[in-house]
Amino acid sequence: MLQGKHIVVGITGGIAAYKTATLVRLLVKAGAEVQVIMTPNAREFITPVTLSTLSGKPVISEFFTANTGQWNSHVDLGLWADAMVIAPATASTIAKMAHGVADNMLVTTYLSAKAPVFLAPAMDLDMMAHPTTRHNLDLLRGYGNHVIEPREGELASHLVGKGRMEEPENIFAVLDAFFASRQELAGKKVLITAGPTHERIDPVRFIGNYSSGKMGFALAQECADRGAHVTLVTGPVALRLAHPLVTRVDVTSADEMHQAVMEHFGEQDAAIFCAAVADYKVANVATKKIKREHNENPIIELVKNPDIAASAAASKRSGQVTVGFALETDNEEFNAQDKLQRKNLDFIVLNSLRDKGAGFQTDTNKVTIFTREGDTLRYDTKSKRLVAVDIVDLLTKYMSR
Ligand code: CTP
Repeated sequence: MLQGKHIVVGITGGIAAYKTATLVRLLVKAGAEVQVIMTPNAREFITPVTLSTLSGKPVISEFFTANTGQWNSHVDLGLWADAMVIAPATASTIAKMAHGVADNMLVTTYLSAKAPVFLAPAMDLDMMAHPTTRHNLDLLRGYGNHVIEPREGELASHLVGKGRMEEPENIFAVLDAFFASRQELAGKKVLITAGPTHERIDPVRFIGNYSSGKMGFALAQECADRGAHVTLVTGPVALRLAHPLVTRVDVTSADEMHQAVMEHFGEQDAAIFCAAVADYKVANVATKKIKREHNENPIIELVKNPDIAASAAASKRSGQVTVGFALETDNEEFNAQDKLQRKNLDFIVLNSLRDKGAGFQTDTNKVTIFTREGDTLRYDTKSKRLVAVDIVDLLTKYMSR
């Protein structure tokens, strides 16, 4: 379940910190990408070298990396994470988290994180039993965090009581079970188109557009995270997605994308047409490079490309769900509603280039969804990852009808 997941592992200054090396090892072995953040005190208990070796990434513990002067963005890390686990969580870090005392990289990342947060407290029994700690943990639970209760046993003080951090194998099992419980699309098949298409002019030139593929890839990740088998048909993009449930089909032109989609559409439970398909292709592709000296005002004749979404949806069987996108600069709602009908979609996701933070190349998007039943759902500007969550939430409802 943890394959391809981005996990931030926060380590604070407690003796149990040495056990977190095992947790990092287990997560990496399960295929997760792990970023370790240590509080300055944690470095007294376990060396960052051990953790960076196990995680394969430099450990972060300061806002700036001393030798490079590079700023470590807690906001980026908070958005990157699929889950954050703080183990061990000391009484001090628990108090800082509960009250927003953002004086280190770990707590700032916690405050920026959009992902579920797990914490495994570890401290002496009296600290654990103190009403302050109990109250702070209640606050954190109330904010939706998951507290992995400490165990009873012999503590670092040699006293015996509740305060031992849960064993790393069990913390790992909690995370694994958490991701397993989100498998609402298990066994379903979803086809997603993504990125631009490139239409050849001659052997060295093409007509393209600014689509980065980020929205389509975020959708593929989200569907796969919920257990769907995803066929990701993508135009030329500079993105990677390593997920065992995602089969990537690389194409270049709209014709190739059309062919790949038609080949796979029949067996899908749903399809999301997210690609920015070129509407036209070149009528006569030159076999040799077009030379400047022979062409004063070259005219390239264009012919229409197939409408991939419309031709797939034309063969839609009952129960198959289709979703489209509309990127508009004007008459947004009218155009989106028109495409919803014309392309026989269940819902369409509109992004307007007039909205700040929406559209091509950005990491964020602001969308409005129009459904076949006439509903309009408006969303705030969010990271494309969270926009994907909203879209897949709605898709899941349609697929379970
Ligand atoms: N689409 C498609 N094949 C095309 C053109 C568009 O599958 N040849 C899909 C897109 O992936 C998107 C939806 O149709 O889900 C709308 O794309 P858009 O480019 O906005 O619509 P067009 O029909 O091309 O209309 P126009 O370019 O005139 O706005």
